[in-house]
Amino acid sequence: MKTNLYYFTGTGNSLNVAKNLKKHLEKQDNEIVELLPIKSFNSHDTININAERMGIIFPTYDLDAPRIVKSFTKKVRAKNNPYVFIYSTSAGLPGLGIFSIKQLLNESGIVINNAFTAVYNDNSVLKKYSADEIASKSKNAEHQHKKDSDTILNNVSNFENKLLKYNVISKIIGKAFDMILKKYYGFDVIIVNDQCTSCGICEKICPVNNIKMTDSIVNIDKNCEMCFACIHACPAKALSYKRMPKRSNYQYRHHNVSLEELL
Ligand SMILES: Cc1cc2nc3c(=O)[nH]c(=O)nc-3n(C[C@H](O)[C@H](O)[C@H](O)COP(=O)(O)O)c2cc1C
Repeated sequence: MKTNLYYFTGTGNSLNVAKNLKKHLEKQDNEIVELLPIKSFNSHDTININAERMGIIFPTYDLDAPRIVKSFTKKVRAKNNPYVFIYSTSAGLPGLGIFSIKQLLNESGIVINNAFTAVYNDNSVLKKYSADEIASKSKNAEHQHKKDSDTILNNVSNFENKLLKYNVISKIIGKAFDMILKKYYGFDVIIVNDQCTSCGICEKICPVNNIKMTDSIVNIDKNCEMCFACIHACPAKALSYKRMPKRSNYQYRHHNVSLEELL
């Protein structure tokens, strides 16, 4: 059976989910899994799913799914009733992401069979965790991916009984949270300091072409996806969000994911 895994990632957690699912699913004979980065579908009008299974994997931002994942999802079309699942990663508060994506797929007539969430390190660096805590979260998540792979291999349908209800109160809390993180911390405003060496990694890693180098100067536009890939990948630690706490001067990338994979 063919499975397409569409993923979006800033610092590798969600790519680690995709890689783990591929590893487990392909242990079965005749299972083929393709990993497809959502950022490479930016310019497509429609995305036609021909595989028998498909998954959409993404991180949680402000209790919701990233904008880039929502616009991708709006373009997905599937004629042959594939088995469809959604997989979000978060730092423990997955919020409404799964429901936003479910709603968008339903609007295109696509039925969701299952949904999963896994807890990983918080790449918004609001809180610093020790290396042991980060490794332990990832280990727990990987145990869970194994179980989830069995669920997927058996094409188990179980969406309705899962997770929190998509109701008005959750939506209001989500909006308030989003406002605090953007207005107070300036999550969507990236700034560059004078340690910048003009290496260009930020331009290459930005999934939405929001960063451009002109005459060795980094120019940041207003379309930030808030994935924080640039902040974590900058070799000179020259990037931060507007009011990033001083204690957060550490950088993160999932240990099973290389910088090249993110670029
Ligand atoms: C801008 C931003 C907002 C975030 N908001 C949430 C949130 O609302 N709830 C949560 O549990 N984690 C939140 N996180 C943490 C990420 O969802 C989590 O670290 C995720 O696994 C990162 O995935 P990635 O490595 O694939 O980019 C946020 C991270 C960022 C950068």
